[in-house]
Amino acid sequence: MAGLSDDQKHRIAAVLAAGPIIPVISLHRTADALPLADALLEAGIRVLEITLRTPQALPAIELLSKRLPAEVRVGAGTVTDPAAYRQAESAGARFVVSPGITPRLLDYGLTANAPLLPGVATVSELMLGYELGYRSFKFFPAAVSGGIKALQAFSGPFPDVSFCPTGGIRQNTACEYLALDNVLAVGGTWLTPESRVSAGDWAGIARLAKESLASCRGQADRP
Ligand code: 3PG
Repeated sequence: MAGLSDDQKHRIAAVLAAGPIIPVISLHRTADALPLADALLEAGIRVLEITLRTPQALPAIELLSKRLPAEVRVGAGTVTDPAAYRQAESAGARFVVSPGITPRLLDYGLTANAPLLPGVATVSELMLGYELGYRSFKFFPAAVSGGIKALQAFSGPFPDVSFCPTGGIRQNTACEYLALDNVLAVGGTWLTPESRVSAGDWAGIARLAKESLASCRGQADRP
C-alpha cells in the first residue's frame, strides 16, 4: 500500500507551523463561534481546532470556514472514525485531529482532502503511523504521558518526527514544550476557558491568547 504522500506530509506540517499555539475549542452555542474566532484572530492566533464533542461543532466549522480569512485554518478535533472524518471534511475542515489512532482512521487519512494529525501517546502507536508515512503527530494526553521528557526521548529514534502536544498544557508550560526541536505547535483548552466563553468575555479571551503568544515569542518565531 502506498504511504502518505509528501504533499500530505507538508500540508499537515504547515498547519502546525502556522500555529504555533492552537486553541482546542468545544462550542456549546453556534453563535459563539464567530466572536470567539474574531477575538483569537485579533490576538494573532491563526489555527483553530473545533472538537466534535458537541452538536454545534460541525455547523461552527462550516460557518468559520466560510467567514474567516483564508489564512486562518479551521480544523476538526476529536475525530475518532472515518464517518466523522468525512463529516468534518464536508463541513470545510482544513485539517483533522484524532485523539488516538485506529487502522481505519490512518488509512482514511492517507487519501483525505483534509490532512490528518493522528494522536499518539506511545512509541508503538507512533510506529504504526510512521510505517504509513505519517511524520507529524498529536502527542496526547501529553502531560500524563511523560510530557517534555517523553518528547525528548522520542527524538532519539525518530529525529524526523514532529509533534503537537496537547492535554494538560497551560500557559505556564506551553513555552517549555515549544522550545523543543521536535515540537512545532502546542494545543489546549486553556486559551478558551468555558467560563469566559459562556460569559461572552471576548476581550478576556483575546488578552489570554496575546499573553500566551507573547510569552512564547522566542519559540513561536522559530522558522
Ligand atoms: C485535546 O483534545 O487536545 C484536549 O482535550 C486538550 O486538553 P486540555 O483540556 O488539557 O488542554
